[in-house]
Amino acid sequence: MDIHALQQIVHKTRDARRQQTLSKFSPAERDQLIHKYHPDFRASAYRPIRFGPNEGDKTVVELATLLEGDSSIQDHTDLTAHYTCDVLVIGGGGAGCAAALHAHGAGAKTILATKLRLGDSNSVMAQGGMQISVAPEDSPVTHFIDTLKGGHMQNDHALLKVMVEDGPSIAKWLLELGVLFDRQADGNLHVKKGGGSSKPRLLTCSDYTGLEIMRVLKDEVINQKIQLLEFAAAIELLSGEAGNCTGAIFKDLDNQRHVVVAAKCVILATGGIGRLHIQGFPTSNHYGATGDGLCLSYRMGAKLDHIDTFQYHPSGAVYPEQLIGQLVTEGIRSEGGQLVNAKGERFVNELDTRDVVSSSIIRECEEGRGIRTMSGRVGVWLDTPLLDVEHGPGTVEKHFPAMMLQFERFGIDISKDPVLIYPTLHYQNGGVKIDTNSETNVKNLFVAGEASGGLHGRNRLMGNSLLDLMVYGKRSGLTAAGRVGSMKQGQLTLKHLQRFRADAKKHGNVSGVISPMILPAYTRKVS
Ligand code: FUM
Repeated sequence: MDIHALQQIVHKTRDARRQQTLSKFSPAERDQLIHKYHPDFRASAYRPIRFGPNEGDKTVVELATLLEGDSSIQDHTDLTAHYTCDVLVIGGGGAGCAAALHAHGAGAKTILATKLRLGDSNSVMAQGGMQISVAPEDSPVTHFIDTLKGGHMQNDHALLKVMVEDGPSIAKWLLELGVLFDRQADGNLHVKKGGGSSKPRLLTCSDYTGLEIMRVLKDEVINQKIQLLEFAAAIELLSGEAGNCTGAIFKDLDNQRHVVVAAKCVILATGGIGRLHIQGFPTSNHYGATGDGLCLSYRMGAKLDHIDTFQYHPSGAVYPEQLIGQLVTEGIRSEGGQLVNAKGERFVNELDTRDVVSSSIIRECEEGRGIRTMSGRVGVWLDTPLLDVEHGPGTVEKHFPAMMLQFERFGIDISKDPVLIYPTLHYQNGGVKIDTNSETNVKNLFVAGEASGGLHGRNRLMGNSLLDLMVYGKRSGLTAAGRVGSMKQGQLTLKHLQRFRADAKKHGNVSGVISPMILPAYTRKVS
């Protein structure tokens, strides 16, 4: 059956659904649902990591294999530095830009190296907003409690406290730099409510919040003349005599040569792992999201936290094929967009936490109430036209211009027709363990943003990622810059790699792959 015929059930049932209020599930129902349907609970997708700092901890097979992977760097590699700096930031997304700007602003000689172009990251693709308690009826304490509940009480309290408390000063910084957040008619900042939040707290720039923030941060990095290395993929870190981090080796993707950078402190801001497509899921992530920072820091001896939990965003596009896995922002559900199964029924409170909503969608599809496309994919409807019905014609176009354009390119008008969606791999809830200054257990190695872990517990709330990466990007940059004045550049060695290889050998060199992966497995090879 063609997609338009299938969509009719959404139009036909709209009036009846508008009268309906759906309450949230009870705590017991939520637990039961998540345990039965959430991909984090598919035991066969997991295995214990065989060696290293997290030996015995379980993670998804794809990641365990990469963490145990070997380096492409050989023992005899020439480690003469091509560049020397105080602070080396690896990653050109929001966390990397924030770290570099603050380190540079504090007087440190800073280099920002990035695998693709400056800005190529998940940050630039963030749509729905940034949670900061700026509204008069809100507070950092309420933000803390909402996030803790959303994370199943597993969040690192100290990291979370710092994030919610630093939030308002981050909003001020971004406004001063020139970010054009949405305003109310009276000029005050406009805030929206995200799933799992008790108060409206999302600062937005329509549905391209990340793009607007990154427009400003990228300009600032360039204006401040921070030294940039683009198309520089980090393939190994360097260690000093005491196991401290002293720099990194890059592969220059243009010229296929090694570039060695000596640094007193290194900040990894390499983002997430969506492009590993764990458990076969499509992803909303950018092309470079292959978990490089996790592999590099693991080989250095950095401990990982909550590395068994991932976020499958409820609304990834299922149709058209060209958009599979692309994000359809939670903002649409925040404004009243309803989820509808093949029978025309709602089945979950759309503003419950993401793990609950995604589990419910998977349940509908597994129990035969999903909608099947001609290519055999299954999803449920997101009733986008309902927004124009509820809030007046033109609402979808005005509030979600980027989303409108994205679908228009394929002849779909989402203000008139519903969108077919299914959970998409969106975020790694865990990552490298850090302290409140963003430092790992490896001296002078910092990790900021999605590559770090602990803050979000077992489920991140919408909009908390943009704040996390600004707060910990800033803290890592300032802490590193504050330290380098009294430090000498350490030796550049591969001692950590020798140790790692010895450990791998004891375990039979089980992995058989080279990591980091750098680009997704399906990348076309150019000779
Ligand atoms: O749905 C969204 O716009 C996603 C936001 C987020 O992951 O924070």
